[in-house]
Amino acid sequence: KYKMILDLDTGIDDALAIAYALATPESDLIGIVSSYGNILVEQAAQNSLDLLELLGHTEVPVFKGLSHSSTTEKFEVMKISQRIHGVNGIGEVKIKKADRKVEEMSGPDFFIEAAHKYGKDLLIVPTGPLTNLAAAIKKDPEIINLIGRVTMMGGALTVPGNVNAVTEANINQDPEAADFVFRSGIPLTMVGLDVTTRTLLTVNETKQWRKLNTASSSAYADIVDYYIDAYKETSPHLGGCALHDPLAVAVAVEPSLVSTLNLNMKVDTKGAYAGRTIGDETRINEPALTTKAAVNVDTDRFLEEFMEKLITLFQN
Ligand code: BDR
Ligand code: CA
Repeated sequence: KYKMILDLDTGIDDALAIAYALATPESDLIGIVSSYGNILVEQAAQNSLDLLELLGHTEVPVFKGLSHSSTTEKFEVMKISQRIHGVNGIGEVKIKKADRKVEEMSGPDFFIEAAHKYGKDLLIVPTGPLTNLAAAIKKDPEIINLIGRVTMMGGALTVPGNVNAVTEANINQDPEAADFVFRSGIPLTMVGLDVTTRTLLTVNETKQWRKLNTASSSAYADIVDYYIDAYKETSPHLGGCALHDPLAVAVAVEPSLVSTLNLNMKVDTKGAYAGRTIGDETRINEPALTTKAAVNVDTDRFLEEFMEKLITLFQN
């Protein structure tokens, strides 16, 4: 059985990633590392703790990660993130504050410990900036060869970015960390906007959750309706909200949901293309052994599994 660690900037689709991971029997969720992005790292950790309690899974430990990239002094939440996820990251919905706190160990140290303990069974799923993972690899490069796979949500290869024409939000927060991870040789699957903007949710689905009438189904319906509303305003062409982060969790355990290209990727870190995820021209003639970029997705199969899993989870 796989062991999964999520690394989340716990906004709304990250909250869906937690639910999806808990509802996936092929892997045990062994911990959640917190990152900055949609909100500050402290808020991300708090949201993860609160959501785990709401979903009845207080056995999953939460670790605090780094609060900003190594190239910045401080992180400030973007206005657009606040519009999409709400100032509290979960659509301004109030849920009960968890009774417990974050673990003492840091997020990057938890990655290192788990890599040595679980080896190839370990799946790491970052759905925020890659700051924590880059820090862990720098501290202990051995983990590159130990772990099973990293399946990250971020980047855009065949479509424009969502922050600007070239960059996607998670990569944009820390292009250096992303570039470092891409070049490190860690087994990596990139689940970017290429596929995540093809898996959409609408109020038709949140209405089905509401009917279950449990604490978790109602809270998640309220939270996701906020996100759907924001998408109507910011991305009206899509016709729904993008299931970015839960798709990465799904692909981690079920890689056949997507078709991929084997590529040696890089991230531009400077100039007009800063934050762009693209093939590395300096390694174009080297075999691409470790990185796969998802370019197509079986949307119907994913959505069916997504609804089935979340409904089962919310019922219990
Ligand atoms: C990604 O950025 C964050 O805002 C979302 O949670 C998702 O991980 C989409 O670009
Ligand atoms: Ca995220």
